[in-house]
Amino acid sequence: MARRSEPPTPQTALHLDPTGVLRAILTRSAVRSYTAEPVPDAMVESMVRAMVSAPSASNQQAWAFVVVRDPVRLHSVRSFAPGVIGEPSLLLVACLDHSRYSDSDGAHVRRQGKLCVAMAVENFLLAAHALGLGACPVSSFLPGPIRLLLNMPDHLELILLVAAGHPATKPNPSTRRDLDEVVRYDGYR
Ligand SMILES: Cc1cc2nc3c(=O)[nH]c(=O)nc-3n(C[C@H](O)[C@H](O)[C@H](O)COP(=O)(O)O)c2cc1C
Repeated sequence: MARRSEPPTPQTALHLDPTGVLRAILTRSAVRSYTAEPVPDAMVESMVRAMVSAPSASNQQAWAFVVVRDPVRLHSVRSFAPGVIGEPSLLLVACLDHSRYSDSDGAHVRRQGKLCVAMAVENFLLAAHALGLGACPVSSFLPGPIRLLLNMPDHLELILLVAAGHPATKPNPSTRRDLDEVVRYDGYR
């Protein structure tokens, strides 16, 4: 295959993508302000289907998720999650499921599981964006109290929350480091 001298620009990438997948990827931003409108069941189903379509190491799918929509529970979980900004109408709790591993599985295998949870969360974020919703991953939370509130068993390790809802404002796109700075071709030099 010919060596690509120039990295693709967003414009050319969009042009090449008839399905809009790249468009969704390139236009997603974290949303931290939401209306009070609930997220309809059909949208939740689409997002969780996209989420569990993510790849996982050896297709182990060592993950588990809790979708919190009950307003009282939402409020309680939020009170232990300072990283949640605004008032989302939905919170996703994304977990690593240690029960999917055997005792002989080492730390490196379990670490792979966290990568898989992160991939599933990215799918959830993109699906939310494609559906016109806004979402934000959140790592600033206290797992202990949230675990108790949601009756989570010991074998589930809370990895990330995702706040989601109908966006109240248009988010400002965040910046990225220059491609030249972070991507090299055919070797690092
Ligand atoms: C692992 C991870 C943890 C994050 N935790 C938080 C958080 O606790 N609170 C928050 O408001 N945003 C959080 N974010 C969102 C980032 O701040 C955001 O993705 C980043 O600034 C880039 O902006 P963008 O998503 O709009 O491109 C987190 C993102 C990631 C990937």
